[in-house]
Amino acid sequence: MSVFEPRVFSGVQPTGNLHLGNYLGAITRFVAMQDTHPCLYCVVDMHAITVWQEPAELQAAIREVASAYIAAGIDPKKSIIFNQSQVSGHAELAWIFNCVARMGWLNRMTQFKEKAGKNRENASTGLFVYPNLMAADILLYRATHVPVGEDQKQHLELTRDIAQKFNNDYAGRIADMGHDPEAGYFPLTEPIIAGPATRVMSLREGTKKMSKSDPSDLSRINLTDDADTISKKIRKAKTDAEALPSETDGLKDRPEAANLVGIYAALAEHSPEQVLNDFGGSQFSTFKPALADLAVAKLAPIADEMRRLKDDTAYIDQVLGAGADRADAIARPVMQGVKDITGFLSTRKG
Ligand code: AMP
Ligand code: TRP
Repeated sequence: MSVFEPRVFSGVQPTGNLHLGNYLGAITRFVAMQDTHPCLYCVVDMHAITVWQEPAELQAAIREVASAYIAAGIDPKKSIIFNQSQVSGHAELAWIFNCVARMGWLNRMTQFKEKAGKNRENASTGLFVYPNLMAADILLYRATHVPVGEDQKQHLELTRDIAQKFNNDYAGRIADMGHDPEAGYFPLTEPIIAGPATRVMSLREGTKKMSKSDPSDLSRINLTDDADTISKKIRKAKTDAEALPSETDGLKDRPEAANLVGIYAALAEHSPEQVLNDFGGSQFSTFKPALADLAVAKLAPIADEMRRLKDDTAYIDQVLGAGADRADAIARPVMQGVKDITGFLSTRKG
């Protein structure tokens, strides 16, 4: 039995164009975990500014992610919905982790290589240490479980490495301060990467991840798309010319078909096997309209609710403010413990 109480943390960056991959790979999982765990769901604005963000657009995007959380079914009374920069512990712990993580570890991060591209000299230093901030997000609450899409796996391994190294480096001090020496100060957090849509692919290219930054809007279904747009994008999705197979083995080497079947399965809350039971032998001319109907039925109500919340900034800001207070109340004692372990002097009083 772990000494750490089960707690879920996850985050989404407010960088615009929330899409079906974010929804199926992350947000639906967030909703599901609320029934079994205390959960914190963060809008990670400090991560967003590792690449340039227009300030006025950033504010709108922060509120948009918060409204997507609520519209998708995260209950702000139950779960904590908040904005990263409003809880100062994230930045404080990230600094300490900048001093725990090693250059060699960060040099291996594939997301940095992708995002920095060819011009690495011009990438912000924040982009390089981004995974340390992510570890701080999680460990500031000693979260035990983190639901994410497949692309975050490497970052979560790094989070465990940081927790482990902190626990080892400061083992004597952790015991002296009265913490369980076996467990250490931080848990080794488990990634939750589950379901049929942990990696939703572009609708235009089945080997490329669906992404906020793809220049083609036809490549993704945005959470704010209306019913007609969703149907049009599915109709235009790239496919091959064959009928659907009746077994999942038949989806190998058919990335576009596999993607659409995975999307159908996730939206219907079925397995891909069940989907192929129903649609094996069907042409895309039959499958695509069925998928479009399902996608519209599931996504259009979320888009409607997001549009309604867009005009209610006072409500969103109140949810984020109350969430930040609740998050801060959990973070403060954890951060005080870190400062004591590290050997900093106690926080000034008065
Ligand atoms: P981001 O938009 O990068 O902040 O991602 C927010 C969450 O959505 C993370 O848990 C990602 O792993 C997940 N995610 C992003 N793109 C996809 C995708 N194409 N398929 C599945 N999950 C995704
Ligand atoms: N890096 C994640 C992404 O791009 C977002 C994120 C930041 C996150 N901090 C987190 C996800 C903590 C899970 C836990 O998708």
